[in-house]
Amino acid sequence: MALKNTQSSYGAISRLFHWLVALLVFGLIAAGLYMTRQTPSPDIFKLYGLHKSVGITVLFLAVLRLIWRLANKTPKMLGLDRPWEKYAAHTVHGLMYLCLFLMPLSGWVMSSAAGIPVRVFDLFTLPDLVAAGNETRKLAQTVHEYTAYTLIFLILAHSGAALMHHFVKKDRTLVRMIKGE
Ligand code: HEM
Ligand code: HEM
Repeated sequence: MALKNTQSSYGAISRLFHWLVALLVFGLIAAGLYMTRQTPSPDIFKLYGLHKSVGITVLFLAVLRLIWRLANKTPKMLGLDRPWEKYAAHTVHGLMYLCLFLMPLSGWVMSSAAGIPVRVFDLFTLPDLVAAGNETRKLAQTVHEYTAYTLIFLILAHSGAALMHHFVKKDRTLVRMIKGE
């Protein structure tokens, strides 16, 4: 099994990063939307703690993934008949990477500004990114919320495009992200 990407295929490391991050992001979005719509309770606070730990894990994975992407070939996109499709795909991928950084960083700023240091899986505590302050907390909360809605939209467009490649254009875009070849 090839670990690195080639001109035409995603290697195992890129695929692992892609699907692991996708899975964690789905869980984070579901947990985030759920916990902010419940009456506070000890269980909900536990969910907040888990959301923060997993969110910081995504930040860590996003850094590694970006390094791996820059150190690797990116396979040529398939089945792009019109020039705008290539720009659209690149823009959506780029914006998704931006969201993978903006979401955890705004969450971290929000917690720091609320005076609640971020503890990761009860293993270690992150340093505060900003001083406590209500204005900063509100701003970070707004950024976190609207970036989340943007990310949901991008994921829908992105997975819709992947399904379109598979079922309408009948090319190997989706299959090679799952199986490699
Ligand atoms: C990729 C990473 C992350 C994703 C996709 C994500 C997603 C979400 C979503 C969808 C919400 C609900 C937004 C709303 O409807 O108001 C939310 C809320 C929240 N998230 Fe995250 N999150 C991530 C990382 C983090 C991190 C790293 C932290 C803190 C260290 C964090 C702290 C919070 C907090 C405190 C709330 C509640 C905000 C409120 O009370 O309105 N999140 N998150
Ligand atoms: C069911 C959900 C998903 C499906 C079906 C899917 C499918 C795919 C496919 C087929 C590719 C390869 C595109 C190509 O070869 O040109 C790809 C690439 C990519 N996907 Fe997804 N994806 C999903 C979820 C996500 C999520 C949640 C994220 C991030 C938040 C994401 C971020 C990316 C990025 C950045 C790329 C570009 C390649 C890279 O740098 O790894 N995807 N996706």
